[in-house]
Amino acid sequence: MRFDIITLFPEMFSGVLSGGILRKAAEKGLLEVRVHDLRTWTTDKHRQVDDRPYGGLEGMVLMPEPVFKAVESVREDPGAKVILLSPQGRTFDSGLARDLAARRQVILICGRYEGVDERVARHLADAEVSIGDYVLSGGEPAAWVVVDAVARFVPGVVGKEGSVRRDSFEGGILDYPHYTRPRDFRGLSVPEVLFSGDHGRIERWRRKEALAKTLAVRPELLAGRELAPGDRELLEEIERERSGGKERKES
Ligand code: 6GU
Repeated sequence: MRFDIITLFPEMFSGVLSGGILRKAAEKGLLEVRVHDLRTWTTDKHRQVDDRPYGGLEGMVLMPEPVFKAVESVREDPGAKVILLSPQGRTFDSGLARDLAARRQVILICGRYEGVDERVARHLADAEVSIGDYVLSGGEPAAWVVVDAVARFVPGVVGKEGSVRRDSFEGGILDYPHYTRPRDFRGLSVPEVLFSGDHGRIERWRRKEALAKTLAVRPELLAGRELAPGDRELLEEIERERSGGKERKES
């Protein structure tokens, strides 16, 4: 698949694309990311892309003309999905990442924090997307986040397919804890169950830990969902241990 990123700061992406998973995906021909300087689509000698807001108040607003021209120029697939990155958007999540991974072309427009002319959101973009409830000075870090999360769903990008499926959120809850060598690190030990060789017990322990973590830090992820068989029992166990005052950190 192909991403086209439209930005005022193309240089921000050089490091991002030259390492890690995105570079590997590009080398394998699974993902192409093109970064475009919005000023390419200006016509005046100052290469102006923004102007003062109608109605007054401070700040500058990205003008529609260069943004429309940029999208019209980079669009190759008539079915390309055009996304405006801004704090006013719907929150990006795993479901949207999976949906975008199935497209041939995704065009990301990086807004600046002061604003983008509303006609871009209403008449050019198919969706307005935010990565969370905080304000970034521009959409560039958000574009990186979107590209990385989407790339993981493109078949072949992540080595072991199983690791994408088991990741946090794919099952609707957070991931279980991971441990590696050494068995004793500065007096901090690894839970005994992981040395038991009993895969059934280990799976049950992982599921329980994942549920306990989710219940502790993201209870809303559990609230609206149907529980897998056995989860109800594990949650009851977690509640019992909590109210019995048993410390989780003990292991
Ligand atoms: Cl996509 N853009 C900006 N400027 N701020 C954000 C954001 C995007 N998502 C969260 N905060």
